[in-house]
Amino acid sequence: MIEKSLREIFEKIYEFPPEIISSAPGRINIIGEHTDYNLGYVLPAAIDMRIYFLASKREDGRVFVRAENFQEEEDFILKDISISQQKKWINYIKGIFWVLEKEGFFLKGVNCLIWGNIPLEAGLSSSAALEVSIINGLDKLFHLHLEPEKKAFLAQKAENDFVGVKCGLMDQFISIFGQKNKALYLDCENLRFDLIPLHLEKENLSFIVYDTRVRRRLSSSQYNQRRQESAEAFAFLEGNGYRNFKEVGLETLEKMRKRMKEVIFKRAKHVISENLRVKKAVEALRVDNFLLLKELLFLSHESLRDDYEVSCPELDLLYETGKEFPGCLGARLTGAGFGGSGIAMVRKPIIAVFKKKLLEMAERKRFPQPEIYEIKVGDGARVYSQAKEDKG
Ligand code: GLA
Repeated sequence: MIEKSLREIFEKIYEFPPEIISSAPGRINIIGEHTDYNLGYVLPAAIDMRIYFLASKREDGRVFVRAENFQEEEDFILKDISISQQKKWINYIKGIFWVLEKEGFFLKGVNCLIWGNIPLEAGLSSSAALEVSIINGLDKLFHLHLEPEKKAFLAQKAENDFVGVKCGLMDQFISIFGQKNKALYLDCENLRFDLIPLHLEKENLSFIVYDTRVRRRLSSSQYNQRRQESAEAFAFLEGNGYRNFKEVGLETLEKMRKRMKEVIFKRAKHVISENLRVKKAVEALRVDNFLLLKELLFLSHESLRDDYEVSCPELDLLYETGKEFPGCLGARLTGAGFGGSGIAMVRKPIIAVFKKKLLEMAERKRFPQPEIYEIKVGDGARVYSQAKEDKG
């Protein structure tokens, strides 16, 4: 349905049908926060909200973009791609063209239309979904034959080096490799992964997203600062003969505490304990032990709040309300933090009551009214050309 109307809009603008239709999902991260760029474990899942990229080739070296959500149009020349100070959204698109040109691909020119239903800057990785839908679409359109892993890397590189956000690889990776009703257990050190079935129906559970409506742009936030601090923690551990956070136990870290700056100790403590929690969460999911998962989700939030210090009062409210609520099986911030969204695992029959409670609590505290909705775990990126479907 969505695709049909997007195709019509495309035809109206460019007078020809699109040659490809590509789409990629946003994500929630079940557990494993701020561990991806620390070469640890993550456990994200793709959601049933996507960004669509429809495109056809041009021959004149120009790219025309229609952003349907904003009702805006932009264009640029492939040989001269530079950052736009006025329109931030175009930089995510330019970034992908830039990175492919840098890789030596000759893209000729493109007409494209972009539309999505992932809330922006809500911590659900709309930017990774945008990047992945574009790189997958261009790969198909120009027969670039990029490996899925390479696409994830290039999308991350575009965001790191062109847009200037030093994000890890998790969001791009899950957007490509996600599968319906499965979480992706990824070791960010060697990129080995396993898809873990989520039997939420067994306990009549659903994931809900709690969007705080607090927006802090990742690039201007303290995200990059956290990266630096954890790099400092890593350098300290390396100086003590360790190769990775995963090799260090919490007791060993505690022994080194006196020799570390307190803030660096806390960052390391979060990364080390979060890695352990991800491993336990995977074991819990393999045997449908949702009570253990519940405990781990709450612990993860505590660690992000106290040790990594990336929470905020609005996100803590979800955690606190979830802890008191019998039908809530865990709640925590998801993604980078500093605003954005949290997730909770909730028994379906009580979703409405839980939502009401959260809204009441937020109002009492005079927080912005949160957006609360149920999400489903959906599939990863897809690209179609001439009605033929290919998995991204
Ligand atoms: C953002 C980044 C990811 C990851 C998370 C925190 O979503 O894009 O790479 O670092 O924050 O876990």
